[in-house]
Amino acid sequence: MMKTEILKLLRESGDYISGQELCSKFGVSRTAVWKVMNQLKEEGYGIEAVKNKGYRLEITPDVLSSSELKSRIRNRWAGRDIYYYEETGSTNIDAKRLGEEGAAHGTVVVADKQNAGRGRRGRSWESPAGKDIYFTILLRPELAPDKVSGLTLVMALSVTEAVKGCCGQEAGIKWPNDVVLNGKKICGILTEMTMETDYIQHIVIGVGINVNLDAMPEEIAQTATSILLESGKKTARAELLQKVLERFEINYEIYEKDQDLSRMLEAYNGYLVNRDRQVRVLDPKGEFEGIARGINASGELLVETPDGKTAEVYAGEVSVRGIYGYV
Ligand code: BTN
Repeated sequence: MMKTEILKLLRESGDYISGQELCSKFGVSRTAVWKVMNQLKEEGYGIEAVKNKGYRLEITPDVLSSSELKSRIRNRWAGRDIYYYEETGSTNIDAKRLGEEGAAHGTVVVADKQNAGRGRRGRSWESPAGKDIYFTILLRPELAPDKVSGLTLVMALSVTEAVKGCCGQEAGIKWPNDVVLNGKKICGILTEMTMETDYIQHIVIGVGINVNLDAMPEEIAQTATSILLESGKKTARAELLQKVLERFEINYEIYEKDQDLSRMLEAYNGYLVNRDRQVRVLDPKGEFEGIARGINASGELLVETPDGKTAEVYAGEVSVRGIYGYV
């Protein structure tokens, strides 16, 4: 689309681009270029137009529109196709529907607001407009069904790396897949898979990141926070999402090739906030306590118990509670 291309040119040049240059590049009239500039202005972009110099991008609004995202993302497959909704029920449900309809591996659904955002364990996910990131990526992986839970850890790692790269904040991971800042949750991940007898038809990984929320709802204020509340700085949501998808494309390819987390262990364990800390494992077969030592290549949490043994805790079956507070 011409709008996306123009946005990309303006952002990448950082300087004036003449109307004439744009006209010849796209083979359109000056009026057509002028109309695109007006559309961009309506969407909140600050574009300066100077006679004999051309157009320059001065201000980018904090939006997640598909032209904003497409003008940034340079990945080979993660986010090549983007569906943006100003408002939707749940991006996970949208992505599953697109999966049924044959959408490509790496298709991303993103929303500014969700009316029925879903969390794990049947909980809901607060999804107000204009502040946070809600997105789902559709995957058609070459993976055995028992390798799918590892993908959630791959996403948690990618978000953590992106928060560091984009916001300069030292985020951590609460096993298996919550991203935390200063001990409070900033990101939740919900992975769902659609099976066909014995093979995976597709997987959707839904990610909610609390980015620019300036106050947490009271019910979750003890355990959840936002990047803004912790850093005092606003983050451009599109830039953060771009980074998450960049990191995910790289990490996913490693996971698919190795079929395990071996090459990501060091990075993941380096971010693990549970590491070397006391945890209580809420195992349906019997609760126990121990010291978390990190994950293994299958993504299981290694918990050293007082009798000197090491338990391998599988994410699907149990939940881990820190003895002190949230982590
Ligand atoms: C959790 O409970 O920690 C997981 C929360 C996942 C929320 C995200 S927001 C985008 C996507 N769409 C949904 O309905 N849920 C996920």
